[in-house]
Amino acid sequence: MQTIEIGTLPPLGEIPEYMYAQTLRRNRYNVPLKAFEIEKVKVPELREDEVLVAVMAAGLNYNSVWAATGFPMDMIQVMQLRKEAETDFQIAGSDCSGIVYKVGDNVKNVAVGDEVVIQAGWCESNDPFIKNGGMRIVAPSARAWGYETSWGSFAQFCKAKDFMCVPKPKHLNWDEAAVYMLSGATIYRMLTKYEPHVVKPGDVVLIWGGAGGLGTMAIQFTKLYGGIPVAVVNSEEKKKFCESMGALAINRCDYDHWGALSPDMLKPETQEIWRGKAKKFLKKIMELTGGKLPRIVLEHPGEATMPTSMFVCDRDGMVVTCAGTSGYMASFDIRYLWLQLKRLQGSHFADTHECVEFNQLVIDGKINPVLGQTVSFEELPAALQEMYNNTHKGNTAIKVGYK
Ligand SMILES: NC(=O)c1ccc[n+]([C@@H]2O[C@H](COP(=O)([O-])OP(=O)(O)OC[C@H]3O[C@@H](n4cnc5c(N)ncnc54)[C@H](OP(=O)(O)O)[C@@H]3O)[C@@H](O)[C@H]2O)c1
Repeated sequence: MQTIEIGTLPPLGEIPEYMYAQTLRRNRYNVPLKAFEIEKVKVPELREDEVLVAVMAAGLNYNSVWAATGFPMDMIQVMQLRKEAETDFQIAGSDCSGIVYKVGDNVKNVAVGDEVVIQAGWCESNDPFIKNGGMRIVAPSARAWGYETSWGSFAQFCKAKDFMCVPKPKHLNWDEAAVYMLSGATIYRMLTKYEPHVVKPGDVVLIWGGAGGLGTMAIQFTKLYGGIPVAVVNSEEKKKFCESMGALAINRCDYDHWGALSPDMLKPETQEIWRGKAKKFLKKIMELTGGKLPRIVLEHPGEATMPTSMFVCDRDGMVVTCAGTSGYMASFDIRYLWLQLKRLQGSHFADTHECVEFNQLVIDGKINPVLGQTVSFEELPAALQEMYNNTHKGNTAIKVGYK
């Protein structure tokens, strides 16, 4: 069998020689709409601890924007320098649901025919750091699958390590199952693993980008543990959407103190200008919450919001960050950190067992995927362009193995 058409599957366990993939190449790095091309490429070979999955649906994440633009890192070149590139192109995509079609010789936990969701925490199974008890997510060999690896989910078949497969929740459709893992596991770690700053009943959690991938998960987790989610968004439509999910919400367009701080803004004669504007935002939070400030601030826009995150975080609270979508120069007035004993915590995805724990919450129906739209394989670049333009709504699934 040479190829199969998009939207179809071969008989179980039969692997075509070639597959269709939305590929990235170094000479095409650009905005998503221009960077991707559908190519016919060879289906990858497996190592002994790897699994070949027929992708039923892929989920979009912002890291594919970084991959497509080649900014801030040319990931294909990085993989080549690390001697980890298995091809001269990249298949991005860090979320998917699918069916196991082939397993490597040492794979025991999944079998051909299993319906799975893949979590993106890739690492070498025999990494000595992990063998000695280290967390997989901080292991030297840890990589974000579909961003730092060659064979992600934007293709008819993808390959992953065996431990990256978790059971697909039976009550979910393929597209619903493709959009929750990366954002959900990241938020699960951010809100539940940094003791004592874990969400407790009555805690206010400030959530930037409340209508986005991370944001919709953060609203659900905060509510699940009895906290009070305060979502920040950029439109009245998204504000209503977050309110419909049970969050208090603020439209950030009503404020204009965003962006990095500079030393000029912190001189004795100027510092009250920024502070006065930021106070207006802080007062809005307190007005909504009946006088409480956020015990946890969930950061990911970075440069645009970090000064405010540190300012509005409650004394002895935590700003936890996993990204810098608006820029990496995350400044803040350090007095707010030390004088009020606040904590700044970095976080990156989740460990293998945390993905399993999180998946169980989805299986139990305690956390649900928030699917905005499902589009065709051909429409993938346009849908990712919407994410780049920040005009997308909720999470996007890409139909691959079904019509
Ligand atoms: N380290 C990790 O493990 C990890 C895991 C998942 C995601 N991430 C990263 O986290 C970031 C968000 O991912 P996502 O999937 O949630 O993306 P998303 O669905 O695009 O949502 C991001 C939200 O951020 C808000 N935002 C964008 N620019 C902003 C700005 N200048 N100021 C305030 N808010 C802004 C937008 O909300 P409004 O415009 O409505 O305010 C947007 O909805 C990305 O950079 C992604 O790569 C990291």
